Amino acid sequence: MEIGKVCLVTFSPTHTSYRIGEAIAHGIKGGEFLIVDLTLHGIEQIKFSEDTIVVITVPVYGGHVSPLALKRMEALEAISSPTVIAVVYGNRAYENALQELDSFVSTRGFKVIAGGTFIGEHSYSTPAYPIAKGRPDEEDLQYAETFGEEVRAKICAASASDKLYGVDVRRILRPRQPFFPLFRFLRKVIKLRKQGVLMPRVPKVDTDKCTHCGYCVKHCPNGAIAEGDETHTLDERCIHCCACVKGCPQHARTFDTPFASLLSECFSKQKENRIIL
Ligand SMILES: Cc1cc2nc3c(=O)[nH]c(=O)nc-3n(C[C@H](O)[C@H](O)[C@H](O)COP(=O)(O)O)c2cc1C
Ligand code: SF4
Ligand code: SF4
Repeated sequence: MEIGKVCLVTFSPTHTSYRIGEAIAHGIKGGEFLIVDLTLHGIEQIKFSEDTIVVITVPVYGGHVSPLALKRMEALEAISSPTVIAVVYGNRAYENALQELDSFVSTRGFKVIAGGTFIGEHSYSTPAYPIAKGRPDEEDLQYAETFGEEVRAKICAASASDKLYGVDVRRILRPRQPFFPLFRFLRKVIKLRKQGVLMPRVPKVDTDKCTHCGYCVKHCPNGAIAEGDETHTLDERCIHCCACVKGCPQHARTFDTPFASLLSECFSKQKENRIIL
């Protein structure tokens, strides 16, 4: 089967899912490359045809696919388009996110021919509490690109699209997770809950540092910050993605969650990316 169009569909507030998706698509090397970026807004209905190879990459939030990503993907449909799905997570765990994404896209007509779980720097990572800092790094991106090349070989080996076999993503190998750090993490989370320690509802803003440049307004995926009122965040719209925190040129925004230190301490051992095809 020949490869014509390759389309990357992504939702990626802090760009790690985007970068993984781009590397996979680069490895597949289609004639034409399209991007449907759902990060900042939803889109009109799109129906992909059988001759478009679709790559979908989204972040894991709380062991699930980011709910806003799923909501925006409701506008997508396919007629058996060969599809690669990947979830990107911050080195803790992706739990059922890959399966969830698989079921979601399969019921919308996408034919999942390959899957992957990749590590991205955690949204809550800070210089004081690094969590998978700098990932995906060069090696991760090379791994993603090589995965794309393998997908390309699989597609090219099929005589027609109906001969391209799907994949059962439940059979993907889980990364190794040492027991004691996980146990420590769970014990500390229970302790925090018992003490009634809550997650902050929105990032904090240092009003002395904010220059009202508007970066956070433009890059918030859910319109939680209004132009001209950048030091205030609408908690009912904030999804805690940390795009504004990581991108603020003045470092005026911080999201001080008590989980950052726990995640940094208990998941310091870097996990491996995994693929199935
Ligand atoms: C609200 C929220 C929940 C998260 N939950 C998890 C999780 O359950 N497991 C994990 O390993 N990483 C988790 N992360 C980290 C992200 O999955 C990770 O940083 C990912 O690379 C972000 O993708 P993006 O750069 O495309 O936005 C979470 C991040 C956020 C903002
Ligand atoms: S990105 Fe930072 S400096 Fe710019 S408006 Fe937002 S908080 Fe202020
Ligand atoms: S205000 Fe909330 S939703 Fe908007 S970019 Fe910042 S953390 Fe993300």
